[in-house]
Amino acid sequence: MNADAKKTTLRMIPYGIYILTADDGKGGIAAATVNWVTQTAFGPPLVVVAMKADSGAYQIVKGAGTFALNMLGKDQKGLAFTFFKPAVVAEGKISGQAYRIGETGAPILTDAVAAVECRVKTIIGEGDHHVVLGEVVEAHVMKPPSGRPDNAILEMKDLGDNVFYGG
Ligand SMILES: Cc1cc2nc3c(=O)[nH]c(=O)nc-3n(C[C@H](O)[C@H](O)[C@H](O)COP(=O)(O)O)c2cc1C
Repeated sequence: MNADAKKTTLRMIPYGIYILTADDGKGGIAAATVNWVTQTAFGPPLVVVAMKADSGAYQIVKGAGTFALNMLGKDQKGLAFTFFKPAVVAEGKISGQAYRIGETGAPILTDAVAAVECRVKTIIGEGDHHVVLGEVVEAHVMKPPSGRPDNAILEMKDLGDNVFYGG
């Protein structure tokens, strides 16, 4: 395989940017920027997220059995960069961001435009990222979009010419 062709072609896949959060109930709170996310079924509503197998966030999601995907608005590029780094919980905030506990126990970021809460159904452990399949069991819209919902959210291409996670 031509490595450059593989990289360029895989980078043609468009991605949204999300903050994945989880709380394992034992003091472990995760918040990580992720892009490898998609819906995979209507009934029940299922989503998948590919999680870095050696990340702290992945360990916490496995322990929690639940997670939330917090959607970011077009103007929230700064939040995406904040959660590329390991999350720090202090003074009731995650890396300086206010949150509340959702129905599943997963943290919901106050400033996100919307969020879904998911229960982990199964995990596919292949490669350096493992595919976590979750059933959407709760949804929250904090800032209702005025037009198409997918026009309102932050995308990988909004992060600049040199930011990729794929290839
Ligand atoms: C542009 C970009 C996209 C990312 N997408 C993902 C992703 O889809 N899945 C993932 O597990 N990590 C992804 N990461 C890495 C996580 O953001 C990073 O590992 C995490 O925030 C660090 O926290 P932790 O290792 O303590 O969990 C991405 C990083 C960048 C820079």
